Amino acid sequence: MKSIVDQSHDFLKDVLHKGAICIDATLGWGKDTDFFLKNNVRKVYGFEIQQVVFEQTVSNIKDSHFVPVFDGHQNMDAYVKEEVDAIIFNFGYCPGFDSQVKTNPKTSLEAIEKALYLLKKKGRMALVIYPHEEGREESKAIEMYLKKLDSHAFYIEKRTQLNHDHSPYLIGIEKLK
Ligand SMILES: C[S@@+](CC[C@H](N)C(=O)[O-])C[C@H]1O[C@@H](n2cnc3c(N)ncnc32)[C@H](O)[C@@H]1O
Repeated sequence: MKSIVDQSHDFLKDVLHKGAICIDATLGWGKDTDFFLKNNVRKVYGFEIQQVVFEQTVSNIKDSHFVPVFDGHQNMDAYVKEEVDAIIFNFGYCPGFDSQVKTNPKTSLEAIEKALYLLKKKGRMALVIYPHEEGREESKAIEMYLKKLDSHAFYIEKRTQLNHDHSPYLIGIEKLK
């Protein structure tokens, strides 16, 4: 069985091509950025707020198509001035680093709203969500927000493990118009 992160990559893969513009909204160790770059896209913006994580990951990724941004994803509209094909958020904290530095409901919702606006028609966004104790509030806030979106404008699916309460899950979104 593929991990939920691999499934999120599968969901995005269909919209990647050599001119694709992508956003990794939670850079962390850079695994999602690596996935985009391996698919030979044109540009990957990577957002991260934790300096030590940011510096380490940026020094490991030597690729001219990578645009690292040391700022919160809630400010992505200040940096991304073009339509985007694919966006990924992998919420929570970076394993191995300060677990107190994690995504939070307010800024996550601000960022998701901006990301949906930046997405081009037929563009896709993957949200990898961790509904354990610390992530539960964020998970609920994200679902409440997404449930209200117009189903003619966005196709939104949820892929989850039914027989496990706190397992990470995927929300996949395609912009329809
Ligand atoms: C689960 S990790 C991401 C894992 C990453 N995609 C990878 O492949 O390693 C979440 C990351 O989001 C970062 N983060 C938390 N709040 C953020 C924000 N507002 N904007 C950008 N990054 C944020 C954390 O510092 C952490 O590194």
